[in-house]
Amino acid sequence: MSKTYYIETLGCAMNVRDSEHMIAELTLKEGYEEARSPEEADLILINTCSVREKPVHKLFSEIGQFAKRKKEGAKIGVCGCTASHLGEEIIRRAPYVDFVLGARNVSKITDVLHRPKAVEVDIDYDESTYAFGEFRTSLYKAYINISIGCDKQCSFCIVPHTRGEEISIPADLILQEARKAARSGAKEIFLLGQNVNNYGRRFSSEHPKMDFTDLLKAVSEIEEVERIRFTSPHPLHMDDAFLEEFARNPKICKSMHMPLQSGSSRILKAMKRGYTKEWFLDRAARLRETVPGVSISTDIIVAFPGESDEDFEETMEVVERVRFEQIFSFKYSPRPMTPAAEYEKQVPDEVGSQRLARLQGRHNEMLDEMKSDRLGRVYEVYFEELRPGGLVAGRTDNNWLVQAEGSEELLGRTVPVKIVETSRLGSRGVVVA
Ligand code: 5AD
Ligand code: SF4
Repeated sequence: MSKTYYIETLGCAMNVRDSEHMIAELTLKEGYEEARSPEEADLILINTCSVREKPVHKLFSEIGQFAKRKKEGAKIGVCGCTASHLGEEIIRRAPYVDFVLGARNVSKITDVLHRPKAVEVDIDYDESTYAFGEFRTSLYKAYINISIGCDKQCSFCIVPHTRGEEISIPADLILQEARKAARSGAKEIFLLGQNVNNYGRRFSSEHPKMDFTDLLKAVSEIEEVERIRFTSPHPLHMDDAFLEEFARNPKICKSMHMPLQSGSSRILKAMKRGYTKEWFLDRAARLRETVPGVSISTDIIVAFPGESDEDFEETMEVVERVRFEQIFSFKYSPRPMTPAAEYEKQVPDEVGSQRLARLQGRHNEMLDEMKSDRLGRVYEVYFEELRPGGLVAGRTDNNWLVQAEGSEELLGRTVPVKIVETSRLGSRGVVVA
């Protein structure tokens, strides 16, 4: 009988890909198979996120739950960003944890598995050329890492301390992976990095000069690739060449993530983001001008230390002007090892909650206005997933989720769909023959 694993993945798309990498190592090198539940598993992995405080607090009660539910002799491993950040402390606070594996050490999964109480959390470890085995959750969409770590020092962010310095993955490895995935049916390639448009600043060995715009061109030259997405780009590095390639290249999906964080230049400076409100508005306006129908998503933090009512109004002004199609908004959460956690003038929690409610309320109104525009129109949808009730789900080029009646034969295909119903979260459509 093979051994089995159960894995819970929190956090961002990088974590999703890290989980796929760990599954590949476990299945190919150790013969593991997926368990149906944590109770049945021989190995329980929790791939954690530490970007905000709340999930880190919840982690220990969650580990406790798994420890109660697990079968006799099963192991528990804590991986990912909180593993990098807390290291040995995890085993001290939760002695039933068998090993701790940091976000930059996932290739060591089959090693720590056999070393009781192993802690591998070195953030200088270089996995940029490690040849992971093949495992993909989706047959139709392939996540591909293009860099590890992050060189930015945003004053609120813990990631440089959990994923270390930024190293780009050699382009030939990325292209090889993209070719292989696309030929096996994953016609959508999703390029991943903490700061994708900083690609090419540092490789771990000699490498021909190449930036993110060059990489996008090279991936789009692979014949079997139909769609290219990427996350996350940084507004500071959205130069003209990048925006022109984005507009011009028909394989690049027309949805852009532009993490604003704040609309106040004063707060952006304190956040060490490197751009101003004016730069952000200029880049967004240029995108809207050159890419008809583009959708722009963003991340916003409210109640950063020192954020006044006026600063928050500036954020609201940017929201009005850009009309983002999607906003991920968060109340500032002080993180260890980050300069902002030491700043004076932390904003009271109730003020943060009020600002968040106002931002989300206004954005919901804007979404209600936008969604009615989609009704009755026809969009090209790439179907990726079966859903209960005889439905298939996919996305339009500009990243709207659409469900339609249908079955397997629609998966991996791009077909025209007429939108018949819309809500804030997604749309219903019918396939147009
Ligand atoms: N508090 C709140 N939100 C944060 N983010 C990153 N660090 C923090 C923090 N300390 C948000 C940013 C980032 C997203 C992934 O998480 O908006 O873009
Ligand atoms: Fe969370 Fe950031 Fe780590 Fe992703 S990189 S898991 S968002 S802390």
